[in-house]
Amino acid sequence: MLILGFESSCDETGVALYDTETGTIKGESLFSQIDMHALYGGVVPELASRDHVKRIAALTRECLKEAGASFEDVDYVACTEGPGLAGALLAGMSFANSLAFSLGVPFIGVHHLEGHLLSPLMGNSSLKFPFLALLVSGGHTQILAVRRVADYELLGESVDDAAGEAFDKTAKILGLPYPGGKYLAQKAQKGRERHMAMLAKDPKAEPRFVFPRPMLGSGDLNMSFSGLKTAALTEVARHKEEMGGNLDDEFVEDVSYAFEEAVTDVLARKVAKALKKTGMRDVVVAGGVSANLRLREKFAKLRGRSHFPALGLCTDNGAMIAHAASYHLDRAREPLAFGVRPRWSFEDCFKKK
Ligand code: KG4
Ligand code: ZN
Repeated sequence: MLILGFESSCDETGVALYDTETGTIKGESLFSQIDMHALYGGVVPELASRDHVKRIAALTRECLKEAGASFEDVDYVACTEGPGLAGALLAGMSFANSLAFSLGVPFIGVHHLEGHLLSPLMGNSSLKFPFLALLVSGGHTQILAVRRVADYELLGESVDDAAGEAFDKTAKILGLPYPGGKYLAQKAQKGRERHMAMLAKDPKAEPRFVFPRPMLGSGDLNMSFSGLKTAALTEVARHKEEMGGNLDDEFVEDVSYAFEEAVTDVLARKVAKALKKTGMRDVVVAGGVSANLRLREKFAKLRGRSHFPALGLCTDNGAMIAHAASYHLDRAREPLAFGVRPRWSFEDCFKKK
């Protein structure tokens, strides 16, 4: 069976053709609107919707061409139904449902987070249910027990900012471009190298800044990241007062290092606790922040086995949607009578009937 999957919930238009027999992606196309939104320092919903409409047909053609397939080969059409920006979701859902209708094939609506959650299963035969999942994106930070498809239990989550959101807000405070996660990570690497050089000379050398590890002692699996942004803000204000207006590179690198260490420590330690609590051995890390290399390093040291999506599959894409749809062929329905679910909670989507 071939599933043509679409993703348009935020600022990426993604299309992919997934083959259920081989478990592989036959063709894929993706356009990121990041450069357009960067001008405004954040995603502008109206512009996002318009851009999805503008590009989705050409991206579909590109994907099928790469797969060496035609529209007649498609057995199912799938698309992110929610959560996300209403207009952006509508752009993808209208196109996908119209296409399914015109081809006379069934349609499958996918929960965006399930797309992320199951994506490390693609091409990874060593990963089997049940497993633990850490979803870390711009909008979510959740630890879930994944017992089987559609049986997901929320074990803990951020009580305030999502980890990606904290990366982006702190990057902004440090004057880095939007979305700042990956830029902050690059700066942090330099700060870390400097600290490693200090440690080589003096094994007790402290880093220049140490940020708190919020809620580590909370006794549950919840997390909090908004205080780290405040810690960065406090250092920036102090630095500006002492040194004048400009933030020099070394300062930005040292604050980035302190921030990244704190976030990745909290995530790794909460997941270690969840592994112990559930007795599970595997942990899947998904969502944009799973691209973070320091996080990957720390997870490699956990007692469980950690699984990350390929770097290209960490951020939003069509492949994860087509792949997630392959587990829900029984949910396929007639196209066209559709709506979008901008605020679709995971719990509502998979509530036991
Ligand atoms: O899953 P995603 O593409 O979009 C949603 O939020 O659904 O995640 C985007 C988030 C942004 O906050 C971005 O800054 C962050 O992932 N991110 C990173 C890195 N690459 C992307 N954060 C830390 N380190 C990275 N290397
Ligand atoms: Zn996402």
